[in-house]
Amino acid sequence: MRATNVKPIDLAPPAWGYSVGADDAGRPRQFALGPTIGDLSADLPRWLYPALYPTWGDGDAVHRAPLMITHADGRLSTRLVLDDTSDSEDEEGVTRTLHCRDEELPLTVDLVARAHHGLDILEQWVEIRHEESDAITLHDYASLHLSMTVAADAGVIHFGGAGWADEWAWVPERLTTGLKVLESLGGVQPHLQRCPMLLVEPNGPATETAGDTVAFSIAWGGNTRFELDVRPLPGHALRSLRLTAGANGHGAPYRLDPGATFRTPSVLWTWSSHGRGPATDRFHRYTRRHALRDGERTRSIVANNWEATYFDFDTERLVGLIQRAADIGAETFLLDDGWFGSAHPRNDDDAGLGDWTVNTDKLPGGMAPVAQAAVDAGLRFGIWVEPEMVNPRSECFERHPEWIVRDARPPLEYRNQFLLDVLRPDVAAFVDAAVAAAIEAAPDTTYVKWDANRPMTDPGSTTLGVDRQANVWVDQVRATWDRMAAAAATHPEVEMMLCASGGGRADHGSLRWFHEFWTSDNTDPVDRLAMQWACSHFFPAVAMAAHATTSGDRPLEFALGVALWGRFGFDLDLDALSDADLERCRCASVIARRTRELVQHGRLERLVSPVDRTTAGRQAAVAYVNDDGSRAVVLAYQITAPERDDVTELALRGLRPNTTYELRQLRLDDPTVSDIPGAGPVESRHTGNAPLPWPGRAAFTSTILELTAEEAGA
Ligand code: DGJ
Repeated sequence: MRATNVKPIDLAPPAWGYSVGADDAGRPRQFALGPTIGDLSADLPRWLYPALYPTWGDGDAVHRAPLMITHADGRLSTRLVLDDTSDSEDEEGVTRTLHCRDEELPLTVDLVARAHHGLDILEQWVEIRHEESDAITLHDYASLHLSMTVAADAGVIHFGGAGWADEWAWVPERLTTGLKVLESLGGVQPHLQRCPMLLVEPNGPATETAGDTVAFSIAWGGNTRFELDVRPLPGHALRSLRLTAGANGHGAPYRLDPGATFRTPSVLWTWSSHGRGPATDRFHRYTRRHALRDGERTRSIVANNWEATYFDFDTERLVGLIQRAADIGAETFLLDDGWFGSAHPRNDDDAGLGDWTVNTDKLPGGMAPVAQAAVDAGLRFGIWVEPEMVNPRSECFERHPEWIVRDARPPLEYRNQFLLDVLRPDVAAFVDAAVAAAIEAAPDTTYVKWDANRPMTDPGSTTLGVDRQANVWVDQVRATWDRMAAAAATHPEVEMMLCASGGGRADHGSLRWFHEFWTSDNTDPVDRLAMQWACSHFFPAVAMAAHATTSGDRPLEFALGVALWGRFGFDLDLDALSDADLERCRCASVIARRTRELVQHGRLERLVSPVDRTTAGRQAAVAYVNDDGSRAVVLAYQITAPERDDVTELALRGLRPNTTYELRQLRLDDPTVSDIPGAGPVESRHTGNAPLPWPGRAAFTSTILELTAEEAGA
């Protein structure tokens, strides 16, 4: 029975208001959205409220619609009425479903919203089903559509742009009238181009503690799209914004059979009326609790060999690196690309992918002696794998040229490789076997880096009919997620890092099976500061792998300090470091162990921005504070030589007012630094959130301060 005149349904968690329902004709409407919602002016005819989830052909010919379908009978229009609503509750939250159906056709569209308990995060998705006479085509299938009014100085911040090594670039813009589309394509590492996250500031620029910030994340490992359609409201200073978010239908019309269900990816969002800080905090808590494997588990210090050796190593070189890694305090050794391939050894990126057997020319005794060296040195052993890919120069491709994603044209190489078609059951089994082969190359492997280094350029699958080749854009993501889920289930004891040409897959969907992501192949600490700042709006440091390298030729102390703001690790040629630098690395490991509980699990306070203030590119500072405010770690960076208008005082937040803290500096050149929080000489005493003198001394310096409330330290 149609539920016209249903009472407004409140979808939002407690922190903000979002009320929806139906008009007298049963059309789903958005009644109110904002920091608070007052009385829903009963006098206003309900049809005047914006459509909740507009559909193409429903009378609004002048806007794009989040749902556009060609029906089995050729009709292009879809007209939804709200039939019914249902609620359910589990340990994660309260889920409300608005069951909609087409007025005439046997099509149902469930609009689902889950308010996560205690997190003030709303998760929304759409489920589409039909019983039409034949398959229908979904051209657009967004997960979320919101209407809001925005001020003249409303803005957005989006992330990324130039592709490889430019993840998380901070792009703030004023929202001007017109349609803005923020999309990413390529299917496999779409986040390299544009992270599927967005901050909208509808009432003008927000700060960390004030102003409205609406934060969105599309939990999808494939192509994504935000649309922002801004129009003037005649006679008003305010303007209207229609925002759509979800999987990107561009070039990906989806054929949906009768009886099948199409579930769109989840979009997560939150509205903070106290600035960016609370939005961040909610995303961090959500990520730890739901989006990241073992989000509350503290991570180890990883030493990777990639930037030290690239493909050029042998057993002796690795064993040497392992011993030095242990000596400087690393806890896991990660062997990267280049360990496999026999007939086509992986000595460069043009051969070997797909042949997951150890290259015994490079590693004559196999992997076991390398892993054993790690175990003997007290380290865990980890290994790199790129299971979805194949080089044409591989035994795998020679045997199975039919396994790749392609259409009828000659397939295109990209980084000398092809993408495997995981929709094929034989390929799915091969991917599982590839992960297992990497893990089982040596006993005691407890860490895996799962990489993916090319986009989908010539989409197509032999498993899909000629009328639905474009389904591959969506189905490939789902099938890849199935393989990731299988890897996590089969190897529960193995920690996994997600990597895709750097941070190409850092999303709240794919991470479910991973403990962290490789943030970027850009490891220049100056660039990393800006990336980490941006990334921190959505991800806690526990998810964000950060390794000190020599990239950019910065002083090592600075690189180490920047990496300490993340899941700390090294990617250094340890054989080439001076004794003084090795000592700095040792200190950094001690500091990482001492601070990681707070950095990985504490509440983030962003203090001085490296990206969006007058001192952009010159200074940066953040703090991590524990739940009761009794302990904090402050990480402050002076990037350029101090200038006249630099910040000279570091205003703190999140500490207990009127409480005396012991202040200690954790020095990267102090071999006596201890890994026990609260140990070591007290530099001074400090009261609550009173400002600290800016600690930056010179260009490329990092300062790590620890604050311990006196009674907490006692
Ligand atoms: C891309 C990754 O981002 C790098 O860290 C490294 O693992 C290479 N792939 C190896 O080919």
